[in-house]
Amino acid sequence: MATHDPEALRDRPIRTFGRTGGRALSPRQQNLLDTQLDRWRLPAPVAPVAQGLDPRSLFPGTRAVWLEIGFGGGEHLVAQAGDHRETGFIGCEPFVEGVAKALAGIEERELTNVRLWPDDARLLLDAFAPASIERAFILFPDPWPKRRQQKRRLVQPDFAAALRRVIAPGGQVRFATDVASYADEALLTFLQNGGFEWTAEAADDWRRPPSDHVTTRYETKKLGDCAPVWYDFTCI
Ligand SMILES: C[S@@+](CC[C@H](N)C(=O)[O-])C[C@H]1O[C@@H](n2cnc3c(N)ncnc32)[C@H](O)[C@@H]1O
Repeated sequence: MATHDPEALRDRPIRTFGRTGGRALSPRQQNLLDTQLDRWRLPAPVAPVAQGLDPRSLFPGTRAVWLEIGFGGGEHLVAQAGDHRETGFIGCEPFVEGVAKALAGIEERELTNVRLWPDDARLLLDAFAPASIERAFILFPDPWPKRRQQKRRLVQPDFAAALRRVIAPGGQVRFATDVASYADEALLTFLQNGGFEWTAEAADDWRRPPSDHVTTRYETKKLGDCAPVWYDFTCI
């Protein structure tokens, strides 16, 4: 979905996602977008706010806010939000059908602790106050496997720096991919940032899905060139 702010569009970084629309939506999906999205979408802090937007202010009564970037069909977002109703969740996803699916999940599970940003997460990261998010998930980001496409990968040094700025010290970041070159590149990028400590305890930790992981739709497709690789980091 698009942000119709000319300033934001001009400054928009290289695009990391593929299509945002495509298949016709079902009548229910269209109805959810028409009637529910305005209720759950974040207000548009598109230009960086002077003091920074404190996401905790969006969830009165909750102390922690978790962020999912590129939630796809929303399976993980909705399941985690259902399991942690005391936590505020912000889900970012520009793919319209995915947003509609997340709205369906919010309705079905009667969630009140989710807000959606139907656009590029990087625009939102820059608007958040420093150290205002406790946990972030980046699960199976678009792989852009061809060498000439790799500049489109989400995890780049500037993204890692923007993410690090908003995660509270001691907060956690989870990254997963099933593309070997992305696994190598992302690990290097997070570690070179210096603000992320890899929490692996055993040599093969990265091969095992974390105990609180919720399987995503993209993950089940097994489109990559390796088994899923999991990295959990603590921000220092
Ligand atoms: C390969 S899909 C995986 C979706 C989901 N995480 C899953 O595992 O099923 C990657 C998703 O990330 C979204 N995405 C890519 N770049 C993004 C960005 N800058 N901000 C928000 N979402 C993004 C894409 O639209 C796409 O839906």
